Amino acid sequence: MTDLIALEADLTAQIAAAADPAALEAVRVAALGKTGAVSTLLKSLGGMNTEDRQVQGPAINGLRDRVAATIASAKAALETAKLDARLAAEAVDLSLPAPPRRKGSVHPTMQAMDEIISIFAEMGFAVAEGPDIEDDFHNFTALNFPPKHPAREMHDTFFFNPKTDGERMLLRTHTSPVQVRTMLSQKPPIRIVAPGRTYRCDSDATHTPMFHQIEGLVIDRGIHMGHLKWTLNSFIGRYFETSAVTTRFRPHHFPFTEPSAEMDVGCDRSGGELKIGQGADWLEILGCGMVHPNVLRACGIDPDEYQGFAFGMGVDRLAMLKYGMSDLREMFAGDTRWLAHYGFSAFAAPNPASGLS
Ligand code: PHE
Repeated sequence: MTDLIALEADLTAQIAAAADPAALEAVRVAALGKTGAVSTLLKSLGGMNTEDRQVQGPAINGLRDRVAATIASAKAALETAKLDARLAAEAVDLSLPAPPRRKGSVHPTMQAMDEIISIFAEMGFAVAEGPDIEDDFHNFTALNFPPKHPAREMHDTFFFNPKTDGERMLLRTHTSPVQVRTMLSQKPPIRIVAPGRTYRCDSDATHTPMFHQIEGLVIDRGIHMGHLKWTLNSFIGRYFETSAVTTRFRPHHFPFTEPSAEMDVGCDRSGGELKIGQGADWLEILGCGMVHPNVLRACGIDPDEYQGFAFGMGVDRLAMLKYGMSDLREMFAGDTRWLAHYGFSAFAAPNPASGLS
């Protein structure tokens, strides 16, 4: 019995000392292999008398089972250690700082749009929107463009192929169709601004096929040109953030307003740089007028009861004037260096409380 205990202690020590699977396998062969120490003991059972075998049998078999179990768990431990070592060696350190990347920024057009909306919101205007793909009725007919009138061509319209019924859809040439949609769906009083994309087949330093406009519409009883002038004068001072800005209204023509006007702001072009709010030059900034009675009628509003004014302006151009960009096409080139230079922080959303720009 004593040598069984000594043998087990010896084997257990050898198993614990085996540093790798090969060493462990050598211990296993030496103990449990065909001619191993434990196997030899098992074989000796055959030559024992019954009494001895009854005592030695369970003892040797128990030894064999314990040694086998110890070897198995040592093997599993070695494998786990090996896997852990491999995982540690091949680990990717995700905590390493990422290479520097250019940060995103708010495009100047969207900055100007947010500023303009926030100024009109403060004056009590709601925001209205309409589709970019329009029909002839909303873009032209309801806005008092006579059928086949050259004014339709004047807008350099992008038309789609005719549908089976002959109707041609188009990309809206201005945001004025939103006036029509609003008047058809809401009752006066109405006070909205309609920001959005507009399209004309035109491209040079001051025109791009896609550009942004914001439209304004007020419909109520007793509305007159004085309301229009006050609203736009107040707006332009707020937008350019100066009380010094001067404006003038020049007679103009739009089919959907009567009378119609263009508004100019006083500016200075001397010295090669454009300065708003000083100097003796004028710069055209927007179109406006009193809503034509035919437009009110087309939208189910009685012109004897309600009057209104409307205005529309190019937002990209207003952004360029305020923030000093010179070529409209660059605004849409998607050059990340340009955007890094001219873009605005997404966390500085313009509002009347914290300021505009
Ligand atoms: N829709 C006109 C344009 O695109 C601008 C405008 C809007 C003029 C509203 C008068 C009233 O040029």
